[in-house]
Amino acid sequence: MPVAVILGGHWGDEGKGKVIDLLAGRFEYNVRYSGGANAGHTVVNEYGSFALHQVPSGVFHNGMTAMLAAGVVVDPEALLAEIEELEGRGVDLTRFYISERAHIVLPHHKLLDKAEEERRGDARLGTTGKGIGPAYSDKAARDGVRMGDLLEPSERDRSILRAARAGAARLADLHCSDAVAPEEVVARAARWADVLRPRICDVERHLRSAVARGASVLLEGAQGALLDIDAGSYPFVTSSSTGVAGACASAGIPPRAVDSVVAVLHSYMTRVGAGPFPTELHDEVGRIIQDRGAEFGTTTGRRRRCGWFDALASRYVMEVNGVTSAVLTKLDVLDGLETVKVCVAYELDGKRIEHMPASATVIAKVSPVYEEMPGWPEGSMQARRWEDLHPRAQEYVRRIEELLGVPVSLLSVGPARDQTIQLRDPLAAN
Ligand code: GDP
Ligand code: IMO
Ligand code: MG
Repeated sequence: MPVAVILGGHWGDEGKGKVIDLLAGRFEYNVRYSGGANAGHTVVNEYGSFALHQVPSGVFHNGMTAMLAAGVVVDPEALLAEIEELEGRGVDLTRFYISERAHIVLPHHKLLDKAEEERRGDARLGTTGKGIGPAYSDKAARDGVRMGDLLEPSERDRSILRAARAGAARLADLHCSDAVAPEEVVARAARWADVLRPRICDVERHLRSAVARGASVLLEGAQGALLDIDAGSYPFVTSSSTGVAGACASAGIPPRAVDSVVAVLHSYMTRVGAGPFPTELHDEVGRIIQDRGAEFGTTTGRRRRCGWFDALASRYVMEVNGVTSAVLTKLDVLDGLETVKVCVAYELDGKRIEHMPASATVIAKVSPVYEEMPGWPEGSMQARRWEDLHPRAQEYVRRIEELLGVPVSLLSVGPARDQTIQLRDPLAAN
């Protein structure tokens, strides 16, 4: 412990919400560090079933201090609705804070996201439409508005008006006439400020002192390491740093303070949106996995593309992020298949390669080199100990562990907290 990063190790939707909810009881702080309302983290616990988009997944634990750090882009409108829903269902959010440094997703960012996707035509990325790319673009261009700007009325009105006018002009260039009137955005921002004021603070300074006194901090990733703006298959990525380096930059915590890095991985692969996916299945098996795994986007409801476990891509993620333990989720979904396959290398122009190519065009050209293993019968969902798993399911997990070069600490065999098999402590430091 005391500082742990839990990140998605694939293209998102690996089951981070479940794993964070499961482990968050051991922490004082739960901090979301990347992305925004593009995330959809499912948590199933005694309060019910939830799809969290911006609020951290560990908020269900008594006494938890939950935070959104500087690297998150906050959609205030959507956040207010999410807070209201959670509080209405009995979740205590009195200790939920938002970084002054976090940038705001304004209404025009969402419209621009959609308009830019249309402009891309066949080359569209398949974004979630939540305004993520445009909000991070403004941040990088130093034209953004931050949560802290909401606090001072004249600064707020000035910066929101400037941003909303610039956004309306860009929308007009893209022939989109739906822009919210800039004065209306200013009025909405005044309301966001009224309601969110007590929650907006210097989160990063607070976290550094917490770390200095030895407090336990869980840094929660969104999206997945293969969607990282630098390490992912650019341009088919999201616009933030989804890995462990992004966690430190966002939370204002020095990298050497991180004790454990947990990657959550599907027992197969999924991807929503466009982009290369070497092990994608277009056959009946792909459909079976899609149905059994209920692979529909938590945020957009889109069908998730499914494929075999890609050990080459996963090992790349282990290396880039210094992962100390891996959690394999959805093992139950593979039950009942005659055979299962694991991609151990790629073939490119007739040659075997064992590294992740930088170029999305090249990744789209590789073919997977598979190892095939016999499948196992139904029953994993009922397993609670390693010994309860079918020997062939055990063999599959052990082979993946070997290929990752990182110990598998937890196996998830269903959406609920107790549908979990612990092989070792996932938070043990390296
Ligand atoms: P996240 O974005 O990484 O938090 O993942 P999502 O919540 O978007 O998607 C994961 C889905 O799988 C959710 O519907 C979870 O309830 C569900 N889930 C998580 N772990 C398991 C598991 O081990 N088995 C099954 N069958 N479903 C799981
Ligand atoms: P969680 O946290 C899966 C994908 C989109 C698209 C690309 C860019 O639930 O795992 P964006 O809207 O970010 O500009 O879209 O990234 N994407 C996700 N896929 N899970 C997510 O979040 C995702 N967030 C973004 O589908 O391909
Ligand atoms: Mg999700």
